[in-house]
Amino acid sequence: MAGPISFAGRVAIVTGAGGGIGRAHALEIGRRGGMVLVNDLGGNVEGAGGSAAMAEQVAGEIRAAGGQAVASGASVATSAGAAAIVETALAAFGRIDVLVNNAGNMRVARIEDTSDEDWDALIATHLSGSFRMTRAVWPHMKAQGYGRIVYTASSAGLFGVEMQGAYAAAKAGIVGLMNVAAIEGGEHGILANAILPNAMSRMADKVAEDWDPAVTARGAAMIEAFGNAMNPEFNTPLAVWLASEACHSTHRIYSQALGRNARVFIGVVPGWQAQRQSAPSVEEIAEHWDAIVDTAHGFTTPASPHEELGGVIAAFPGPA
Ligand code: NAI
Repeated sequence: MAGPISFAGRVAIVTGAGGGIGRAHALEIGRRGGMVLVNDLGGNVEGAGGSAAMAEQVAGEIRAAGGQAVASGASVATSAGAAAIVETALAAFGRIDVLVNNAGNMRVARIEDTSDEDWDALIATHLSGSFRMTRAVWPHMKAQGYGRIVYTASSAGLFGVEMQGAYAAAKAGIVGLMNVAAIEGGEHGILANAILPNAMSRMADKVAEDWDPAVTARGAAMIEAFGNAMNPEFNTPLAVWLASEACHSTHRIYSQALGRNARVFIGVVPGWQAQRQSAPSVEEIAEHWDAIVDTAHGFTTPASPHEELGGVIAAFPGPA
């Protein structure tokens, strides 16, 4: 069993930490000795409005428990907001070791009913927000040769779910951003991972409210059966472990649900290779379809396009 995980001397920014899952992360890092910048726009669940009150409330809770915290009500969705969050953390604590990208909003609609405004609002907060925060902390982490970035993606993005096209696209995009942050951060001691949480929160309530009533009723019955295991706190231990110095995971995705923590990956099966210089015909694709989709003969989980192509090139006959 590992020893206690400490954040003594470490400074963490947790975005969207005025409630729900982010609040649980911030409180836990604060309890473990970390200096916490609690960020939250403090608007409604769709992302409108704003005040620093939610962030200040949680920063106050951390201080009341004997920890150190400051608040920022800036938005992650703009470059100016991201810069303000970083400046507030630096002014208070002088460094930034951890970034937990958790801020998020929610709009629920089928693709055909998704307005430009819905699309833009979700991409701006989840995907652009994660990018802007990453870019803003990067020079500080790079200069000190140390950083931990936790991205909050979603199973909606990796697996798909109805009525969340813009949200799912933003969350899948976050995995792409994490992949590159992990690769570019490696030589600077910056590790990046993504989590797929599951919890009851005001965002989950919003999804339930706006969804198909039959699905919502089934969901409500299931959630009653889960009891406390849908509390935001169930998502925090893995996120905090990934944010800690002791954890060396990078370039990975993890799913959390009801206390089950598990790696998720994107795999490539052996498939079928024509192994010649001329392109395969459409008929050949049809003929070899079973091999192309076959998952029974293993898979690889490439860490880059070069790694994926390495095996293909090895089997390729080369120029004619
Ligand atoms: P939540 O609505 O309680 O928390 C999100 C927080 O982000 C809110 O407090 C909100 O004010 C803040 N926020 C929104 N826009 C912001 C902005 N521009 N700048 C700064 N803060 C902003 O919801 P929850 O469930 O705690 O969500 C936390 C994260 O987990 C989100 O990224 C969400 O997409 C993700 N997630 C949640 C799941 C769940 O089952 N609850 C499932 C998968 C992902």
